[in-house]
Amino acid sequence: MTNRCILQMALLLCFCTVALSRNYNLLRSQLRSSNSACQNLLRQLNGTYCREDRMNFEVPEEIEQPQQLQKEDAVLVIYEMLRQTLGIFRRNFASTGWNETIVERLRAEVHLQMDRLETNVDEITEKENFTWENTPVPHVRKYYARIVQYLKAKKYSRCAWTTVQAEILRNFSFLTGLLDYLQN
Ligand SMILES: *[C@@H]1O[C@H](CO)[C@@H](O)[C@H](O)[C@H]1NC(C)=O
Ligand SMILES: *[C@@H]1O[C@H](CO)[C@@H](O)[C@H](O)[C@H]1NC(C)=O
Ligand SMILES: *[C@@H]1O[C@H](CO)[C@@H](O)[C@H](O)[C@H]1NC(C)=O
Ligand SMILES: *[C@@H]1O[C@H](CO)[C@@H](O)[C@H](O)[C@H]1NC(C)=O
Repeated sequence: MTNRCILQMALLLCFCTVALSRNYNLLRSQLRSSNSACQNLLRQLNGTYCREDRMNFEVPEEIEQPQQLQKEDAVLVIYEMLRQTLGIFRRNFASTGWNETIVERLRAEVHLQMDRLETNVDEITEKENFTWENTPVPHVRKYYARIVQYLKAKKYSRCAWTTVQAEILRNFSFLTGLLDYLQN
């Protein structure tokens, strides 16, 4: 009886792992297409012109060498980048003259990606012994906090937004690169 139970559990575990692997491959392709949609939308936010400030938001070291990231960390980093991006595009961009419809679509697309990642994120964070401090996420948060700080300091000016938009656009290409780490 016990043996049978163990066998069943082993089978179940096996099945779950397979399901998860498939899940990651599917996830990767979904995120990839959603990401390029986001980049296209961001490029359409070009109603006004302003020279981009040369700002260094100090990219976290851990992120600069993504090849050292574990798959789990990559998932958490991607999720956090999306969450922070959404937060930024909920801020006051009245000075930019951006098309609201485009921004709304961008937010919806980012949100969609977050929804797709949610199960994977829960799975990781609900593990025993999980702590955020052991992940690169706190560094990612600080990086985005510097971006927000900059926007605030510049009173959400058109030029500040141009700089931030360019930075976020580069982040999306970076994010696309991170997706390669969601392999099995
Ligand atoms: C903004 O970009 C879109 C798509 O690339 C283009 O069709 C449009 O003419 C551009 N708008 C301005 C003001 O340059
Ligand atoms: C905003 O973008 C949408 C979708 O591309 C377009 O239909 C609409 O005309 C634009 N609005 C303005 C004010 O340019
Ligand atoms: C959790 O941490 C404790 C104490 O550090 C350790 O004994 C245990 O093996 C860890 N469990 C897992 C699943 O890593
Ligand atoms: C944002 O984009 C830059 C430029 O590609 C990249 O180096 C950086 O790592 C990105 N930021 C984060 C938090 O990943």
